[in-house]
Amino acid sequence: MYSVRTVTDDLYWVGANDHRLALFENAYPIPRGVSYNSYLLLDEKTVLFDTVDWSACRQLLENVNHLLSGRPLDYLVINHLEPDHAGSIEEILLRWPNITVISNEKAFMLMRQFGFHVDEHATVQVKEGDTFSFGTHTVTFVFAPMVHWPEVMVTFDLTNGVLFSADAFGTFGALDGKLFADEVNFDRDWLDDARRYLTNIVGKYGPHIQLLLKKAGGILDQIKFICPLHGPVWREDLMYFIRKYDLWSRYLPEEKGVLIAYASMYGNTESVAQALAARLCDKGMTNVALYDVSSTHVSQLISESFKYSHMVLASVTYNLGIYPAMHNLLIDMKALNVQNRTVAIVENGSWAVKSGDLISKFLTDEMKKMTVLNERISIASSLGADKASEIDTLADAILASM
Ligand code: FEO
Repeated sequence: MYSVRTVTDDLYWVGANDHRLALFENAYPIPRGVSYNSYLLLDEKTVLFDTVDWSACRQLLENVNHLLSGRPLDYLVINHLEPDHAGSIEEILLRWPNITVISNEKAFMLMRQFGFHVDEHATVQVKEGDTFSFGTHTVTFVFAPMVHWPEVMVTFDLTNGVLFSADAFGTFGALDGKLFADEVNFDRDWLDDARRYLTNIVGKYGPHIQLLLKKAGGILDQIKFICPLHGPVWREDLMYFIRKYDLWSRYLPEEKGVLIAYASMYGNTESVAQALAARLCDKGMTNVALYDVSSTHVSQLISESFKYSHMVLASVTYNLGIYPAMHNLLIDMKALNVQNRTVAIVENGSWAVKSGDLISKFLTDEMKKMTVLNERISIASSLGADKASEIDTLADAILASM
């Protein structure tokens, strides 16, 4: 059965929701599912903007066939070649052999690499700034390399102000009928997943997002809809989400607050984290989020590291090194370019306390623009009452650095 939504008078969402996939990119948990967004324009010519993951192809075909009502599919515009969107290209080519595929040079190269027989069909290879008319609608193509792959472009409909933004402005989470961001409580129910999506998938490429935002800045007043490849479509308060993207891609915190991430084997390092959290709250800083790195997926920790201005990394020493789950978080933060954060360190070790120096060295030598506070709590095995003043001092140091 088809399941479509109307975006504007002649543009439709024809994508699919996926609640069966456990790990996006086989890496990131998606308990709220994910949507693969594809859009169909019914102009004098019919145009499909991107496809869906192969697992959702049947839904796409039902949706497209329903709306076409026997009309041919004339054009396929491909903005991004990652298989969660490109996975159904070959099937579209087989079903509509007279279709013309519109994309760019790098994207056509990737289509061949993935084994799509695009050279057996008509193609239009576009360059940055080219325009193309489908009848009433004229679109222009804006290249957005590394948001998220090198071939990525976005397509802007000059006629109705629809921006097909590829992965940009996407989010984890299935739509389940609600297409528009103004049909949900985005800030309450979606923002965390949007941040987790952006920071983990494209976090490394902040400068490239900034380039795209600069290009979009020139036509901001003309953009009426943002149609991403995942998650809700934006038609109201576009600047709310654009501002979030601006902060995330400049690696600036959204909120003054403290992320406390702890690695604890028997609860003793955790007790320092809890005592510190309590002292911070006592002193008025209640925007504190505390996570066990062993039981929290690293994608969640990454997302929170982008959100808060301050971090406490509390780790037991393990094999004379940093506890593996904490080390993994550090490596991921480095890979995703986390920067501009102030960090306090808590270390523990029963017969050798090494983790603090190693974490400090990693933050200073391997990452960019990280400030490590001089105050550090170092415990041997367990937190004694004699450490109460040190916890107080560290809480004061964190607050003083805000
Ligand atoms: Fe949703 Fe980069 O693909």
